[in-house]
Amino acid sequence: MGKVNRRSFAVRKPNESMRLIVLLFVGGFFGLIIGLSLPTTRPITKLNLPYGLLHLSCIQDKNTDSSSSSQDQLLNDPSKIWVPRNPRGAERLPPGIVQAESDLFLRRLWGIPSEDLTFKPKYLVTFTVGYEQKKNIDAAVKKFSENFTVLLFHYDGRTTEWDEFEWSKKAIHISAQKQTKWWYAKRFLHPDIVAPYEYIFMWDEDLGVEHFNAEEYIKLVRKHGLEISQPALEPSKSTKGVCWNMTKKRDGSEVHKEAEEKPGKCKYPLLPPCAAFVEIMAPVFSRNAWRCVWHMIQNEFVHGWGLDFSFRKCVEPAHKKIGVVDAQWIVHQGIPSLGNQGEAQTTGKPPWRAVKERCGMEWRMFQGRLTNAEKGYYKSKGIDFTDLVLHN
Ligand SMILES: *[C@@H]1O[C@H](CO)[C@@H](O)[C@H](O)[C@H]1NC(C)=O
Ligand SMILES: *[C@@H]1O[C@H](CO)[C@@H](O)[C@H](O)[C@H]1NC(C)=O
Repeated sequence: MGKVNRRSFAVRKPNESMRLIVLLFVGGFFGLIIGLSLPTTRPITKLNLPYGLLHLSCIQDKNTDSSSSSQDQLLNDPSKIWVPRNPRGAERLPPGIVQAESDLFLRRLWGIPSEDLTFKPKYLVTFTVGYEQKKNIDAAVKKFSENFTVLLFHYDGRTTEWDEFEWSKKAIHISAQKQTKWWYAKRFLHPDIVAPYEYIFMWDEDLGVEHFNAEEYIKLVRKHGLEISQPALEPSKSTKGVCWNMTKKRDGSEVHKEAEEKPGKCKYPLLPPCAAFVEIMAPVFSRNAWRCVWHMIQNEFVHGWGLDFSFRKCVEPAHKKIGVVDAQWIVHQGIPSLGNQGEAQTTGKPPWRAVKERCGMEWRMFQGRLTNAEKGYYKSKGIDFTDLVLHN
């Protein structure tokens, strides 16, 4: 993972290590003096407790049933910390020390920690990239202001080459060979890690960004209350067209949330693919929407097909909070780069076909899993599932 680690080992200078050792030594010495000056008969764990608590613990000690579980003992022994409201597994810690969320801000290795960050990026943009697409990614990154943390997921194992770009030195690089956007997202974009970011852009590498500006995009997303969105698509010359009317660019419009398809395609006009729908190639999630979507991503379904039809499960009402931004639009160039990373099959299928087949299979499996989960839920509530119109 990343250059961050490598650098952190390289940079510590010998005299800094010396200082650390000296500090440890001095600290240890003082600890020894304090330890020696304490009356040895007194249990150290109870030293800081107010008298009342100590008293209580004595009474309970006498009454404790010797067969009670260790957790009950914890609850009964006020000198031991047990905070059920803490994150799972951290109950033994005093809440004041618990940091349940993190961030991707890069820090320096010296100086006062609180002064590390002169400013904190408010948004996150991730690209899943191969080095072959460097020109495209360079152009795309430049459309994102300094208010963005840039995170690259490398599927081809080439990371150092990117340092020819100045921005790359401040970006975060994560490398794992031949994986997909949704695989990386599930592993490295846990909602508690990306919690500081108000919006998260999760983009493919083959998008043309000439008519796109990220700051302007966010203004529109805010204005129209979109929790899940994407820039409208303009078909490129190399692709036949845009798959869905919903994600196709409309002239003279800022944002749209509904579309029409050929008769029969949209039984329910407020449901995908006619509303409550964006595609998986360039989604943008609000912090809250991502917290939900992350939980819906299945670990072994790496292509994310079908996920786009289900994003709507995460926001309410979905047809108002999911939309497409026409005024900041992109071109889908349709370069099947990751598709070519498949393995040649023994059956003689070309790699791209095997990948495509898996995409479809994942879609069907995901739909099945989701339907079963919903059925299970309603059954557990005693609600007759057959009477519900769930519009899957
Ligand atoms: C970054 O965010 C700040 C605060 O919202 C804003 O004033 C500034 O214009 C943004 N930077 C750019 C380049 O838009
Ligand atoms: C796509 O949407 C536009 C505008 O709503 C509509 O005029 C057009 O007929 C739609 N195309 C199809 C194939 O339904």
